[in-house]
Amino acid sequence: MASSCRSCLVWVLCFFLCRCLVFVEPSRRVFLYPQSQEISSIVSKQYRTAYHFQPPKNWINADPNGPMYHNGVYHLFYQYNPNSSVWGNIHWAHSVSTDLINWAPLDLAIHPTKPFDINGCWTGSATILPGHQPVILYTGMNRDNQQVQNIAVPGNLSDPFLREWTKPDYNPLMTPSDGIHPDMFRDPTTGWRGADGHWRVALGAEISGNGTALLYKSEDFVRWQRADSPLHSSSASGMWECPDFFPVPIEGREGLDTSVNSKDVRHVLKMSLMEPQSDYYMLGTYDETRDIFVPDNAADDYRMWLRYDYGKFYASKTFFDAKKKRRILWGWLNESDTESDDIAKGWAGIQIIPRKIWLDSRGRQLVQWPIEEVESLRRNEVHLHGFELTTGLHEIKGVKGSQADVEVDFELPSLDRADPFDPTRAMDAPKLCSQEDASVRGGIGPFGLLVLASENLEEHTAIFFRVYREQNTAKVLMCSDQRRQSRSSLRPELDKPVYGVFLDMDLEKERKISLRTLIDHSVIENFGGKGRACITARVYPELFLNTSSHLYLFNNGSSSVMISRFQSWGMAKAHLNIKLKDLVIEN
Ligand SMILES: *[C@@H]1O[C@H](CO)[C@@H](O)[C@H](O)[C@H]1NC(C)=O
Ligand SMILES: *[C@@H]1O[C@H](CO)[C@@H](O)[C@H](O)[C@H]1NC(C)=O
Ligand SMILES: *[C@@H]1O[C@H](CO)[C@@H](O)[C@H](O)[C@H]1NC(C)=O
Ligand SMILES: *[C@@H]1O[C@H](CO)[C@@H](O)[C@H](O)[C@H]1NC(C)=O
Ligand SMILES: *[C@@H]1O[C@H](CO)[C@@H](O)[C@H](O)[C@H]1NC(C)=O
Ligand SMILES: *[C@@H]1O[C@H](CO)[C@@H](O)[C@H](O)[C@H]1NC(C)=O
Repeated sequence: MASSCRSCLVWVLCFFLCRCLVFVEPSRRVFLYPQSQEISSIVSKQYRTAYHFQPPKNWINADPNGPMYHNGVYHLFYQYNPNSSVWGNIHWAHSVSTDLINWAPLDLAIHPTKPFDINGCWTGSATILPGHQPVILYTGMNRDNQQVQNIAVPGNLSDPFLREWTKPDYNPLMTPSDGIHPDMFRDPTTGWRGADGHWRVALGAEISGNGTALLYKSEDFVRWQRADSPLHSSSASGMWECPDFFPVPIEGREGLDTSVNSKDVRHVLKMSLMEPQSDYYMLGTYDETRDIFVPDNAADDYRMWLRYDYGKFYASKTFFDAKKKRRILWGWLNESDTESDDIAKGWAGIQIIPRKIWLDSRGRQLVQWPIEEVESLRRNEVHLHGFELTTGLHEIKGVKGSQADVEVDFELPSLDRADPFDPTRAMDAPKLCSQEDASVRGGIGPFGLLVLASENLEEHTAIFFRVYREQNTAKVLMCSDQRRQSRSSLRPELDKPVYGVFLDMDLEKERKISLRTLIDHSVIENFGGKGRACITARVYPELFLNTSSHLYLFNNGSSSVMISRFQSWGMAKAHLNIKLKDLVIEN
C-alpha cells in the first residue's frame, strides 16, 4: 500500500515535470514549489482571505481577465483550474458584482473545446463595441501548442449577467507568423479606436530578445492586420506578458475610455516582465500618426521603470468604469507558501482590492487608492489624534488585527536628524530595507506598523519608513519586511522577501508621511505617501489566531514622530457567494 502510494506520487510528479519539459516549459507560468510538510488544516483555514476576491476553491492564476462594466454589472473573469489548486487545465471562470466587493460566481465562461484553444484558454481582455456590445479577445493554446488570439461573443445579449460566451468558427483571428515565436505571442489588450475609426489592440511578445507590445489593427474587430512597427519595444527586458495601454487625464482623477486621445491626456503602457515576474509601466505619449507609444523616459535598465507595486503583484489589468468615471486596476497575488500548502488549503491565488488609479499632480507617476466601496466593510473604528510616538512599541487595542483597514499620518516636526544618504544606494531600496531593518536605530525612523503580530511578537510583519538627507532634500524609504528578523512566520520553508521603495514626495513641503494598510489574514496591502507607492505582501503566520492577532505602532529612531491621525477599522467579511437573484442592478 505504502509503496504503491509512493510510486503513485512519483508518477504524478513525473507527469507534471514531463509535461513541463515537453509542452509547457518554454511558454507559460508553471510553478513547482519546494515541497513541505503538511500544515495543520486549522492554520491553513486562517489564511483564507475575508474580503479579497477569490473563488470558492481551486487554483486561480488570477490574471484578471476581461474586467468590464456593462449595463450596471461589473464582470471579472480569471484564469482558473476547475479541478485543482495547482496550475493546469486553464479555463475562464466568471464572477459578477454590483459593487466590486461582493461577488456572485457564475458557470465557467470559456472552456478549452475547439482546435484553436484546446490546450488552454489564456489571458485576454474585454472591449465594449458601439451599441453596448461586449466582446472578448483571449489567447488560445491551439492543437499544435501555438499561441493564437481568439474572439468570444456573448451568447445572449439580453442576459444581464452575460453568462454564455460563444466562440465563432472563424477563430483564430491572429496567428504567430513573420518571425513571431509561437510561445511568445499572447494576452491581447482592450481595443481602442483611432481617429481613423479603426480598432487597435496590443499583444505581448518577445522579438529577437526584445520585450515587445505588438500592434494589430482592424476595421471590424474580426479581420486583423499586424502594423509594421510595434506599439513599443525595448531591449532592456525579455518577454512582455499582459500588456495594458490606456490614457489618463493630465488634470484630475477621472478615468477615461480607452479610446480617448488628446493633448490633455498622457498614455500609460504597462508590461508584466516574465523575468522578474513583476509589473512595470511607462508614462508617455501615444503618437497616433505613427501609431507608436513614445515613453517620456526610455531607460535601458528596466529597474528604473515605474512599478504599480513593489511587493508581490503580477499580470494586472485596468478597465474604465463608466458608472463612476474612474479607471480601476486589478492584479493577481499568488501564494508565497508551498504547493503542498496549496493542496492542503484547497485554493491558491487572490486578487488585490481593486484600486482607482490616476496621474500624480506632478505628472511623474500614477497614484493608486483602494476603491471607496471597500470602506463599506469598515466596522468598530479606533482612532487616536495628536499622539507622540516616542521610541518603543505602542499596542493599538480593540482592533481585529487579522482583518483590518488602518490609516496613519506620521508627522515629522523636524528633519534635522535625518541620516545622510549614500547615493550609490539609489537603486537598492529592498537591500537597504534589509540591512537597515526595523531593529537598526536611525536619526529619523525606522517607524511604522507591526501587523499580524502574535502574543509575544514571535511573529510579526514590519512596515516602516526611514528618512535620509541627500544634499538638501529628504529621501523617504518605505519597507515591508517579512524575513526571519521580522518573522512574519515561524515556518522556515516559506518565501519571505524584503520589499522596499523610495517615495517620490516632497517631505519638506508635506511634512508628513501617510500609510494605509489593508490586512486580510494572509495578505497585507500597503499604500505609502497617499498612494504614491504600494507594497503588497503575502504572509502565513503559524501562531495566527483571529482572536490574538495584534497591531502595533513602533518607532525605533532617535527622533519622536507625531501621529497626527490614526484610524483603524475591523473589516467585515465580503460576500463572495451571492446568489444572482440577490444582486440588485442599478443602471
Ligand atoms: C475534472 O476532472 C474530472 C476527472 O478527471 C473530469 O471528468 C472533468 O471533466 C474535469 N473537469 C473539467 C472542467 O475539466
Ligand atoms: C436570454 O436571456 C434572457 C434574460 O435572462 C432570457 O429570458 C432568455 O430566455 C435568454 N435566451 C436564451 C435563448 O437563452
Ligand atoms: C532590439 O532592441 C535593440 C536596441 O533597442 C535594437 O537595436 C534592435 O534592432 C531590436 N531588435 C528588434 C528585432 O527589434
Ligand atoms: C509566485 O510566488 C512565488 C513564491 O513566492 C514566487 O517565487 C513567484 O515569483 C511568484 N510568481 C508570480 C507570478 O508572482
Ligand atoms: C527596535 O530595536 C531594538 C534594538 O535593536 C530591537 O530589539 C527591537 O526588536 C526593534 N523593534 C522592532 C519593532 O523591530
Ligand atoms: C476564529 O476563526 C475560526 C475559524 O475561522 C472561527 O471558527 C472562530 O469562530 C473565530 N473566532 C472568533 C472569536 O472570531
